[in-house]
Amino acid sequence: MPEIDWAALRAAAVEIAGRAYAPYSHFHVGAAGLTADGRVVTACNVENASYGLTLCAECGLVSALHAGGAGRLIAVATRTALGDPVMPCGRCRQLLWEAGGAELLVDGDGTIRSMSEVLPGAFDADRLAAGG
Ligand code: THU
Repeated sequence: MPEIDWAALRAAAVEIAGRAYAPYSHFHVGAAGLTADGRVVTACNVENASYGLTLCAECGLVSALHAGGAGRLIAVATRTALGDPVMPCGRCRQLLWEAGGAELLVDGDGTIRSMSEVLPGAFDADRLAAGG
């Protein structure tokens, strides 16, 4: 596994947040992820006049992960363009779980937590495969 440079990931999140398209909330979010094979993937939030269609930064991050050849996320940092903390919303926690699982480490607010802490009792592919 690659070493996690948290300072670099936080800086990448802040930088990409500067590209957010957020004319409605004016809340600019960036997400930066490190893959198990050492790539850094970034994304920002993209809003829409139909507010409910807004794409969070973490949603873009998962899309960029797959567009760049897929793989697993091992670490993600999220920040606003001002460098302020922002924890992934509930929907994005589910998206991140799919891309990194219980072991994925997340820094939204300066504390590094595993996804199992951030999304306890998660529903995922294992549960789906077990049937209902
Ligand atoms: N936002 C994100 O990009 N990620 C989150 O986890 C929290 C919220 C964005 C969505 C919207 O464009 C703005 O922040 C305000 O909710």
